[in-house]
Amino acid sequence: MDVSAQIGVVGLAVMGRNLARNLARHGYTVAVANRTPERTEAFIGDFGHEGAFVAAAGAQEMVAALERPRRLVVMVQAGQATDDVIAEYSRLLEPGDVIVDGGNAHFADTRRREAALRDAGIHFLGTGISGGEQGALKGPSIMPGGSPHAYRLLAPVLNDIAAIAPDGTPAVAHLGPDGAGHFVKMVHNGIEYADMQLIAEAYHLLRNSTDYEPRRIADVFRRWSEGRLNSYLIETTAEILAHRDAHTGLPFIDVLADAAEQKGTGRWTVQTALDLGVPVSAIAEAVFARSASAHTALREAASVLPGPARTILDERDAERLVAQVEQALYASKLVAYAQGFHQIQAASQVYGWNVNPAAVADVWRAGCIIRASFLDRVRDSFTAHPNLPGLLAHPSFARELGAAQLPWRLVVSHAARDGVPVPAMAAALAHYDTLRAPRLPAALTQAQRDFFGAHTYRRNDRPGTFHTRWDLDRSEELRG
Ligand code: 6PG
Repeated sequence: MDVSAQIGVVGLAVMGRNLARNLARHGYTVAVANRTPERTEAFIGDFGHEGAFVAAAGAQEMVAALERPRRLVVMVQAGQATDDVIAEYSRLLEPGDVIVDGGNAHFADTRRREAALRDAGIHFLGTGISGGEQGALKGPSIMPGGSPHAYRLLAPVLNDIAAIAPDGTPAVAHLGPDGAGHFVKMVHNGIEYADMQLIAEAYHLLRNSTDYEPRRIADVFRRWSEGRLNSYLIETTAEILAHRDAHTGLPFIDVLADAAEQKGTGRWTVQTALDLGVPVSAIAEAVFARSASAHTALREAASVLPGPARTILDERDAERLVAQVEQALYASKLVAYAQGFHQIQAASQVYGWNVNPAAVADVWRAGCIIRASFLDRVRDSFTAHPNLPGLLAHPSFARELGAAQLPWRLVVSHAARDGVPVPAMAAALAHYDTLRAPRLPAALTQAQRDFFGAHTYRRNDRPGTFHTRWDLDRSEELRG
């Protein structure tokens, strides 16, 4: 076979297929392969006319088709399938070649794979790709992690195929070594869960407390999407709520089962945050909300439990609630993003990645599921105040939170009074209050630990570690 392809794509399920087409549309000659060759043939049959493709029957043909240093993009399922493909191809590749893993891999797997391949002289770029199938085709947000050399080998290609932000910059940046890219993508997904849950809570509260039909709530979301809440998820929510079921003629939202599924990246975000000791409560509540919704037997059994009677607001109060929910949604969303950024910064320290949070905000501005106008300001805030811990305290956001905090409280208390669950919004508000509190009840927690387990405590007035002999009412300082 002639050496003729500039890049290869292994795995032609929907994401791989569309990424290969995206590459070809940008003028690259793309070698394509799939575990089952029938899919490769079908791909060439369906899309071969779109650009220059080389169909490779297997790994050997693929490797033979690629110009050196070879660039191979792996687009298969995260986990064992990725390991299998890497094992198969790394035997055939040569030092200097680069493998890009574009799946939703766990960052720890990426670190392991990068280290193993580095020993063999093969570069590995663990790359988060967001935007769903349309994003892969028309321009995703791309989050690569790996060595600077590996990134340089791919940078021109990634810049070509990435989404373009409104200011003309491509949504791609080298985020750090080994697992940094996949870590950022994992947290992107955690934030995606929180963003979706917060939107769902806003909808649910409006639906419960007003006589608004889904179509009218769609108008509310459409209006919101013209302001600071402007984002892909708000726009799609407006479309979904306006949609009618072709089969029954009912609002589409009303014919869907209310039990949500998940593939696991939100859960990974929370598991990892627990290990890092970073509070991502809004994200965690979003993951738990999906799990709780899917426990149908438990919910059925609990449906006997009493709640308040439903009260419907009149037109004027309903409008007031809409305005308050906008504030609560925006403020809660800020908390969820801030928690995600905190997690990225904490992991960056632990793993020595040196991730630039401004660059993360930058690549999330276009192409990805959580793209949102306010990310411009997030990027600018991190650029202007790189050493200020915590996004919420950045001056422009602190001002907005100050204006939102009262309506935010009203919304959460309104929901509690009406028996409408808003776990993510309530967790976000509790996080806000935790961070700003001059004093937390953790002093009591310290004392309790010392009381029953001699776990020691620290004091405000003196440095050191102390223990109280509670039986003797004697406090002693512990040394060394
Ligand atoms: C993206 C998405 C994507 C994710 C799906 C489904 O950035 O394009 O995050 O990677 O896999 O949204 O996730 P769940 O099935 O876990 O909801």
